[in-house]
Amino acid sequence: MNLCVTGALGHIGSKLIRSLQIPNLEKVYIVDNLMTQRYASLFDLPAGMDFVFNGTDILSPEIETVIEDSDVLIHLAAVTDAERSFGRAEEVEEINKKGLEKVARLCADRGCSLLFPSSTSVYGSQSEVVDETCPEEELKPQSPYADSKIFGERLLAELSEEMGLKYVIFRIGTIFGYSIGMRFHTAVNKFVWQASTGKPITVWKTAFNQKRPYCGLGDCVNAINFFVANYHFDNQVYNIVTVNLTVQDIIDVIKVNIPGIQVIFVDSPIMNQLSYEVLNEKSLSLGLTYHDTVEESLLIVLRKLRNANTQIERIAV
Ligand SMILES: NC(=O)c1ccc[n+]([C@@H]2O[C@H](COP(=O)([O-])OP(=O)(O)OC[C@H]3O[C@@H](n4cnc5c(N)ncnc54)[C@H](O)[C@@H]3O)[C@@H](O)[C@H]2O)c1
Repeated sequence: MNLCVTGALGHIGSKLIRSLQIPNLEKVYIVDNLMTQRYASLFDLPAGMDFVFNGTDILSPEIETVIEDSDVLIHLAAVTDAERSFGRAEEVEEINKKGLEKVARLCADRGCSLLFPSSTSVYGSQSEVVDETCPEEELKPQSPYADSKIFGERLLAELSEEMGLKYVIFRIGTIFGYSIGMRFHTAVNKFVWQASTGKPITVWKTAFNQKRPYCGLGDCVNAINFFVANYHFDNQVYNIVTVNLTVQDIIDVIKVNIPGIQVIFVDSPIMNQLSYEVLNEKSLSLGLTYHDTVEESLLIVLRKLRNANTQIERIAV
């Protein structure tokens, strides 16, 4: 099987390409236009795997030959910062919508199956616990980013009707955990960075006691491996969520490991979300398991930063 991973140098992709557990894998196309400059994600890739790096844009014609030669495509390339997506609506339109459409049509045309990472942010604001049966009209995206994920989900359903596309959609919780291409702008990782560099933790005013879904990076990569290895492309949506937590829960874990941290409250464009919890039973029923914890992930990041910060060295990590 030949695999293509777009956006492969990012937070999720850089871990995935080091942890592939897929039988009969022949070639792995790594497609990333380096928009986010994560060259270092190409360092020290595992030996024994036939990687082919292609620094192309998903909107460029070059992508056609890559998809032509791939059996499965994991489409991680996107504008991914929900908070900043308010000021980047055109870019979100271009990459997350037009880019996905281009890639998905090519997949349908060439018989390549597609794994699309949507987001639990499509649920947006729910008064209760939700699962994949939440009706489409009750999804409440709160940002151009989350809108683009709903667009993507609808598009893939249409292309399966129109062109026979085979796909699976993951609604992934906010990722926490270390990879060489990791980002620090989402909740857990941002708090860990701030705390470990001696800065106050900045929490959105409305968010402190609200529950939200999170996904450990190891669990996310495990889920991708699981679905691809079992060739599970059933045109359905799966929540990929390790745990639902409040910001307070996360900060309590950080406090135990980095004593004396300060918390300050700030405004955010995404202020009107309510607390919501997302169930992962549908993925569990397939035999998928979740193992990551915020505390272990935190300690891994602290160990990585240890020699960059004498304060951390004083903490037992
Ligand atoms: N990280 C999360 O918390 C999270 C949660 C839910 C869903 N997701 C989704 O998972 C996917 C991957 O997320 P991530 O956190 O690894 O993102 P990331 O921003 O870390 O990585 C995205 C990668 O895509 C590349 N890229 C962007 N535009 C491109 C283009 N036009 N052509 C080629 N490459 C391009 C970037 O250079 C970057 O390396 C995204 O679709 C994201 O929306 C992420």
